[in-house]
Amino acid sequence: MRDSEGRNIEYVRVSITDKCNLRCLYCMPEAGVEYMPHDELLNYREIQRIVSCMTRLGVHAVRLTGGEPMARRGCLNLVSMLKQTEGIDRVAMTTNGILLRGRVAEAAAAGLDALNISLDTLDPAIFRQMTRCGDVNDVLATICEAVDCGLRVKLNAVAVRGLNEGGLCDLAALAREMPVDVRFIELMPVGCGKGLSPVPNDEIRQRLEAAFGPMPYIDERRGLGPAVYYRPEGFMGCVGFISAVSHEFCEHCNRVRLTPEGQLKLCLNHLTGVDLRALVRGGCDDAALTDAIRQAIRNKPRRHGFADAIDDRESRRMHRIGG
Ligand code: GTP
Ligand code: 5AD
Ligand code: SF4
Repeated sequence: MRDSEGRNIEYVRVSITDKCNLRCLYCMPEAGVEYMPHDELLNYREIQRIVSCMTRLGVHAVRLTGGEPMARRGCLNLVSMLKQTEGIDRVAMTTNGILLRGRVAEAAAAGLDALNISLDTLDPAIFRQMTRCGDVNDVLATICEAVDCGLRVKLNAVAVRGLNEGGLCDLAALAREMPVDVRFIELMPVGCGKGLSPVPNDEIRQRLEAAFGPMPYIDERRGLGPAVYYRPEGFMGCVGFISAVSHEFCEHCNRVRLTPEGQLKLCLNHLTGVDLRALVRGGCDDAALTDAIRQAIRNKPRRHGFADAIDDRESRRMHRIGG
């Protein structure tokens, strides 16, 4: 359906847990966080029901996020339930990859179409420093498995000044050797991201061009997200940029978000939304539920407003939003 700005909303990002097995500097505090009690989370049937109502409004693709989606038991069962939902033609997942090691074939068999895997550096020591506990070899093993299974694979790297900026060309080079896209996500001033210093994507692009030569723009859709893609000579995959801060893309936004506790979120940086869990658990029928979603989408905020003092500004950390 179209929102009041004429944007076509076709995609829902479903965060299924606020838990994570890592503690990335820009996402979670070192001491960890208090997790939501399990009964506050939507169960998988409730999620499927909400997604099914959304298909009546034109949503046809779902992405599971977290926290770390694989940290919730039965995540792959949900993949299969969503894949079998009428009107859904694409189920994808955004993950740190670690808990998927050895299970990618199972995920593909459950119906997963595409995998976006976070990887900020190839350097094991810097990886450990940025995630505070992870082993980069687990992520690399999962990436290889996913490529072998024929899944569409994209890698997500957040560049942080003074941390991983020295290894960005090495990361991009993965797209030369393998059929994967490597995307650079500008650090967003949300939650723990506020205290760190971003590397603007234009700067990264210049560095990559100096290393790999000209990078022609690729004028094709490689997913449903806001990334812009380029392909240096001799690369199997593309290099992509998600520049939410320096090149705002809100005008083309096509998604809404469902939080683990069942809040329909209309923008990553706004609190505005609807408590769908209350409607579902309050006995609302599908028609009324669909109608509540329709009304909410109509009022989707126009822009993220990272730089503005907006009234309903999101104050949660990223692991509760799902990116
Ligand atoms: P595809 O392009 O379909 O593969 O998906 P995607 O890029 O939308 O998904 P992914 O979860 O990999 O998102 C990558 C990064 O983009 C994450 O860090 C998200 O936080 C960020 N992102 C995705 N959607 C939005 C959005 O609507 N607004 C902002 N500001 N950032 C977004
Ligand atoms: N800014 C940008 N990206 C972030 N992510 C988490 N926190 C931030 C932030 N503050 C990214 C992760 C992952 C995706 C789900 O969200 O790196 O790729
Ligand atoms: Fe976990 Fe992803 Fe947050 Fe890292 S960015 S702590 S992997 S949810």
